[in-house]
Amino acid sequence: MSVTVHILNGPNLNLLGQREPEIYGADTLDDVAQRCTTLAQTLGLNVALFQSNHEGVIIDQIHTARQAAQGIIINPAAFTHTSVAILDALNAFDGPVIEVHISNVHKREAFRHHSYVSLRADGVIAGLGVEGYALALRRMATLLVRG
Ligand code: DQA
Repeated sequence: MSVTVHILNGPNLNLLGQREPEIYGADTLDDVAQRCTTLAQTLGLNVALFQSNHEGVIIDQIHTARQAAQGIIINPAAFTHTSVAILDALNAFDGPVIEVHISNVHKREAFRHHSYVSLRADGVIAGLGVEGYALALRRMATLLVRG
């Protein structure tokens, strides 16, 4: 059976590479998608990356993943710190969830220290740059392919 992981990205991550590069780096979200696709092939996973600036669209993407994916990697961006609705949607998803933040949110403003999504996430990666997505994918392979 093929194993699919959805990588969901929240608001402003479409500007990755242009937005505050001193915090988020120079790679674009397309670069991340390409790297994850290549890595996924070696890990025996299918991967699809989505991004939206709209909370409801992200919730719809989580609902879609209920049928279409076995695991979710999510960088909810600013919704991390505000969205009970995204937490509720993730609670309705059965597979593993890994939360990724490009920056180390714990080293930043106090309002970034709390994550609603962490109440559901099986693992959290923060501060490892865009490499965090690849590391999350490797963990997904452990859980879903080799586990
Ligand atoms: C982020 C951290 C959030 O606090 C912020 O709102 C983002 C990106 C990160 O990847 O480091 O947009 O999730």
